[in-house]
Amino acid sequence: MSIAICPGSFDPITLGHLNIIRRTSRIFDRVVVCVMYNSSKTSPMFSVEERLDMVKRVVSKYPNVTVDSSDGLLAEYARQFEGAVVVKGLRAASDFEYEFQMNLINKKINPEMETMFLTSSGKYTFLSSSVVREMARYGGDLKGLVPDEIIEDIREKAKQWRVH
Ligand code: PNS
Repeated sequence: MSIAICPGSFDPITLGHLNIIRRTSRIFDRVVVCVMYNSSKTSPMFSVEERLDMVKRVVSKYPNVTVDSSDGLLAEYARQFEGAVVVKGLRAASDFEYEFQMNLINKKINPEMETMFLTSSGKYTFLSSSVVREMARYGGDLKGLVPDEIIEDIREKAKQWRVH
């Protein structure tokens, strides 16, 4: 059985993330979406539990996708799934540089771990969790940026973060 791991901080999950997860679920028998910590993102909008809950809700329509979380290293996490491939989305050349470096570090930790990249769908190239957070802080329309099911969660959370 082929297994893919889609890791990310998902703060919050966007339609761009969901597009990568959905496409990955068509290629692999099983997909594990893993909500993780990114130590360069120090003040998340949502707790890991909240992010996990939102991701679970939006991927529940995909029967071969499950959701997990880990506060450890991705390369260590991947060891439990023999032969699993990490799948990440690439939006632009700037993503590539970062991901290339991450891939080299991960390979050093776990040489067995392979990473594959799916190019992002053109309509989501501009989209990131930070764009969503910024929009939410200014009370902008989140439709078309994140799955409908979580718009209310973000609106509610953004009340504490609103700029004005
Ligand atoms: O959605 P993001 O923030 O781009 O995802 C990045 C993430 C969470 C996949 C990355 O930061 C990660 O792998 N975090 C776990 C810790 C780790 O393994 N770091 C890389 C080696 S130092």
